[in-house]
Amino acid sequence: MVKICCIGAGYVGGPTMAVIALKCPSIEVAVVDISVSRISAWNSDQLPIYEPGLDEVVKQCRGKNLFFSTDIEKHVYEADIIFVSVNTPTKTQGLGAGKAPDLTYWESAARMIADVSKSNKIVVEKSTVPVKTAEAIEKILRHNSKGIKYQILSNPEFLAEGTAIQDLFNPDRVLIGGRETPEGQMAIQALKDVYAHWVPEDRIITTNLWSAELSKLAANAFLAQRISSVNALSALCEATGADVSQVSHAVGKDSRIGPKFLNASVGFGGSCFQKDILNLVYICECNGLPEVANYWKQVIKVNDYQKNRFVNRVVSSMFNTVSGKKIAILGFAFKKDTGDTRETPAIDVCKGLLGDKACLSIYDPQVTEDQIQRDLIMKKFDWDHPIHLQPMSPTAVKQVTVTWDVYEATKDAHGLCILTEWDEFKTLDYQRIFDNMQKPAFVFDGRSVVNVDKLREIGFIVYSIGKPLDSWLKDMPALA
Ligand code: NAD
Ligand code: UDX
Repeated sequence: MVKICCIGAGYVGGPTMAVIALKCPSIEVAVVDISVSRISAWNSDQLPIYEPGLDEVVKQCRGKNLFFSTDIEKHVYEADIIFVSVNTPTKTQGLGAGKAPDLTYWESAARMIADVSKSNKIVVEKSTVPVKTAEAIEKILRHNSKGIKYQILSNPEFLAEGTAIQDLFNPDRVLIGGRETPEGQMAIQALKDVYAHWVPEDRIITTNLWSAELSKLAANAFLAQRISSVNALSALCEATGADVSQVSHAVGKDSRIGPKFLNASVGFGGSCFQKDILNLVYICECNGLPEVANYWKQVIKVNDYQKNRFVNRVVSSMFNTVSGKKIAILGFAFKKDTGDTRETPAIDVCKGLLGDKACLSIYDPQVTEDQIQRDLIMKKFDWDHPIHLQPMSPTAVKQVTVTWDVYEATKDAHGLCILTEWDEFKTLDYQRIFDNMQKPAFVFDGRSVVNVDKLREIGFIVYSIGKPLDSWLKDMPALA
C-alpha cells in the first residue's frame, strides 16, 4: 500500500488529502501538523475549517485510510510520498520584509524530513513557494541525506476556498513539475498515478520544476489582475454614469476575455493573492526586472485604492463624519462560503471607519467574535504565522460589537456596509431593517448584492460599487 503523509493540516492540506483518500482507497493518507488544536478539530465533528462538502468527504474516509495526527515523525518516516503544505507567509522583518515569503516553516519541515527518513522519498511542494525553492530544499535534504535519495516535485494547488471540494473533484488542471532526469520522471509518474484515480489524463500537466513553481504565482497574479482591472473601471463608472456590471458583462462576452473574475468589489482578499503577487514582485526585483515588478505591484495598489475609496465614500456620504455613529458591517469573511478572514477587505474597511471613530456592529454567519477582534488588532502580515504561535492580545477593540443576528447589528445604525457576498444578504427583510435604522439610512454595497432600485424605493440612500450614483451621493463627492 502506498503511504502518503502531508505536513500541514490547513485549508489546503486538509481538503486535498481528504479527497485523495476518498478517491484512492488503496492509498493510506496521514495529515500531520504541529498544532494540537487543529488536529483535534480534524478528528472531531467540528472541523477546523468551514468548506461546503468537506464534512461528508472526511466522514467517509477518516479512520479508514485518512488519519489526522500530531505524530509528525512517525508518519514522515513511514511515507513514500510527503506533501508539504505548510504556510508560506510574507516576511514581517529582515531582508525582503513586506514582500519576500518567509520560508521558516518550509525549511523546518524539510530539516525534519531529513532527520527522520530512513528510506527514499518523493517530497512534493504543495505550498505556494518562490521559483527555485525546490533547489533550496534539495540542498537541505541532500546535505543531510545519509545515503537516502529524495526527488522533489512541485505540485501547486489551485483550489479556491468555498469551492475547494468541487475544485478538487473536478480540477481544470493538475500541475506536476519535476527534474528532467530519469529519476525525476519516475517521481512525476508516481504522483500522476495518484491523481489518475479520478483526474482525466489530459488535465494532468507535467513541466520542469521552475515552470510549475512560477505558474502558480502567475495564475494568481492573472486572476487578481482581472479584479483590479474591473475595480479600477468601477471608479470610472461612478464618475461617468456607466454601470460596471453592464460593462463587465459586455466585455466578458468576448470569448477571448471570458466572463469569470470580472465582478467589481470592495477589493480582493484571501490568503493568496496579495502574498503571491508580492512574492512575484520580489522575485522580479531580485532578478533585476524593476519594470516587471512595478507592473504587478500596481495590481495591489489598485486593490488598496479600492478599499480606501469605499471608506472615503462612506464617510463623505454621511456628512464627512462617522464619529460616534453606529455602522453595521454585514459580512467579514473574504468571500462567501468560508469562515476565513485572512486579508479580508473587511479588515481594512473596518480599520478605516474605526479611524474615523465609528462604532461598528459586525455580523458574519461564519466568523466568530474572537477572530474578528484578533483581526482588528493584528499587524499587517502577522495573520499567516500560525495562530498557536502568536501571543494573544488581551485587549479588544471597544468600538466594535459582534452579533449573530443581522437585525440586531443593523438596529439603530446610521449606515450598513455589505463586505461579503453571502447569499442570505440578498433576501433580508430590508423594509424591517430600514424601519429600525436612523434616518437618513445608508446602504453601502461593496459586493453588488442588493437590488439598488428596490432599496431606493424603501427609502435608503444606496451606494453600490461601480453603479450610477444616487443624487445624494453626487452632491457629496468622495473625499480625495
Ligand atoms: P494554513 O495556515 O491553513 O495551514 C498551514 C498549516 O501548516 C498550519 O496548520 C500550521 O500549523 C502547519 N505547519 C506550519 N509549520 C509546520 C511544520 N513545520 N510541521 C507541521 N505543520 C506545520 O495554510 P493554507 O491556507 O493551507 O496554505 C498552505 C500553503 O498552500 C501556502 O503556501 C498557501 O500559499 C498555499 N495555498 C493556499 C490556498 C488557499 O486557498 N488557502 C490555495 C492554494 C495554495
Ligand atoms: C485564489 C485562487 O482563485 C485559487 O486558484 C488559488 O488556489 C488560491 O487563491 P481564493 O483566494 O480562495 O482562491 O478565492 P477567490 O475565489 O480567488 O477569491 C479571491 C478574492 O477575490 C475574494 O475576496 C473574492 O471576493 C474576490 N473576487 C473574486 C472579486 O472581488 N471579484 C471577482 O470577480 C472574483
